[in-house]
Order: sequence, then structure tokens, then C-alpha cells
Amino acid sequence: MNAPVAVISGGSRGLGMVLVERLLDQGWQVATFSRNASEFTEAMAEKHPEDFHWASVDLADTAGLRAFATAARRRFGRIDLLVNNAGVLTDQELFLTVPGRRIEDLIAQNLIAPITLTQACAKVMSAQRSGQIVNISSINAVRGFRGVAVYAAAKAGLDGFSRSLARELGPLNIRVNSVVPGFFDSGMTAAVTAENRERIQKRTPLGRLADIEEIANSVLFVISPSASFITGQTIIVDGGITC
Ligand SMILES: NC(=O)c1ccc[n+]([C@@H]2O[C@H](COP(=O)([O-])OP(=O)(O)OC[C@H]3O[C@@H](n4cnc5c(N)ncnc54)[C@H](OP(=O)(O)O)[C@@H]3O)[C@@H](O)[C@H]2O)c1
Repeated sequence: MNAPVAVISGGSRGLGMVLVERLLDQGWQVATFSRNASEFTEAMAEKHPEDFHWASVDLADTAGLRAFATAARRRFGRIDLLVNNAGVLTDQELFLTVPGRRIEDLIAQNLIAPITLTQACAKVMSAQRSGQIVNISSINAVRGFRGVAVYAAAKAGLDGFSRSLARELGPLNIRVNSVVPGFFDSGMTAAVTAENRERIQKRTPLGRLADIEEIANSVLFVISPSASFITGQTIIVDGGITC
């Protein structure tokens, strides 16, 4: 059997990078994009010339997202998995003073982009009569936090999208789930102050931030045969901070 094929947004660093690396290690062919290449994407292109595809695409470029899905399908012949991983959280700012342009950008990058990419990939999956989609959400979608209202709205939208899409695509043998991480160390959380980190840890029953590998583990579980009857769910992986 041919290797399964994954499309992962934002695979140059952070969670996307860990997922790309682990799927390649498991024998998948992987197509990923980000705005900029990284040492990691360059190393993977060298190490896995047949199985790794990277391109520069911006989440704001909906035509570019569709073209990326087409390029992945042309190169590898099918798409078995889409992980909508790339997300953008600018500096936390209070809602009353967020510029209108930033509201539009946050919704475009965190909600419209994954919906667009999903439509392009789901068309390929529907022709195959099989596939999986995992949307990376956030605990901001399920609990209120100051300063992230627009990002939270986009992520909550993504969870609603996962549920309804699971109903539409289930009959085509396509599972759709959201994985909802709590805080983990990455570029996105690099600016969290020591004080805020302390506060988060105190509010988390397990007393720490997640290791990025633990979030990747939950994504790999959701796409595994062990989770073959799970669809339309939001799987919260947060050390208990939202419980
Ligand atoms: N870190 C956390 O604590 C946390 C908690 C809950 C949920 N999440 C969610 O988990 C996912 C992964 O987060 P992370 O912390 O791993 O992020 P990260 O380290 O900031 O990495 C983000 C990835 O997305 C790419 N990206 C960012 N903006 C892009 C754009 N406009 N167009 C194309 N690619 C773009 C980045 O590459 P370029 O910059 O080169 O484009 C990078 O590859 C996100 O959906 C995030 O919302 C994170």
C-alpha cells in the first residue's frame, strides 16, 4: 500500500513541526506550508526528498491555500489527513481598542483560512471516500480569557465547524475533530511573562504547562485506528485548566 499523505498547515516550527517530524518518522508523506522556511523544513527536504513537500503560503491568501492543496494532491496522489494547525495570536489587547483591521486579520487567518483549506482537501477526500481532518483549536474557545476575544471567537468558530462538518462528511468516511490544547511552549507563547506562567501553572490541576509532545500525542491518537469511532468532538488536552 502507498504511504498515507498528510497536509499540515504551519509545519515550520511549534506543534506543526513536531507533527510533521513524527508523521514522516511513521512513514507518511507530508505536505506543509508556512510563510517562511526554517532550518527544520530545509532539513526535512534534504532528509526526505521523496516524502516531504514545503511551500511558502500565507494563511491570508485563500487562492494560495487552494493551490497548495492541489499541489499536494498532484505530488503525492491523494490526501488522507489535514491538520489545520497554523494559527495566529498577536499581542493580547483589550477588545475595546483592537483596530478593525486586526479583527479581520485574526478571523481570516484563524477561521477563514482553515475553512478554505478544509474545503480544498475535503473534495479530494470525498473522491477517495476516506480521510481525516483535525482542527487545532484552543482553550480560549471554551473558557474566557482577557485580551483574546477575537482569537477566541475564531477558535470557537472552528469547533462549531468541526461538529457540523463531521455530520456532513461522516457518510463519506471522513472523520473531523478539534483538538483543544492548553498552554504549551512555542513561538506563540514565548511572550508569556513569568508572572502569567506562574498563574497558569497554579490554575492547572497538573501544575504545569503541556509539553508540546503531549499535544502532538493527542493529535496522533485522534488520527489513529484506536480513535476510529470518534468524530465531531472537541478533545481538550489542557492538564485540567478548564475543568
Ligand atoms: N502555544 C500554545 O500554548 C497554544 C495553545 C492553544 C492552542 N494553540 C494553537 O496551536 C496551533 C499551533 O500553535 P504553535 O504554538 O505551535 O504556533 P507557532 O509556534 O507560532 O507556529 C505557528 C506556525 O504557523 C505558521 N504561520 C503563522 N502565521 C502564518 C500565516 N499567516 N500564514 C502561514 N503560516 C503561518 C508559522 O510559520 P511562519 O511564521 O513562517 O508563517 C509556524 O509554522 C495554533 O493553531 C494555535 O492557535 C497554541
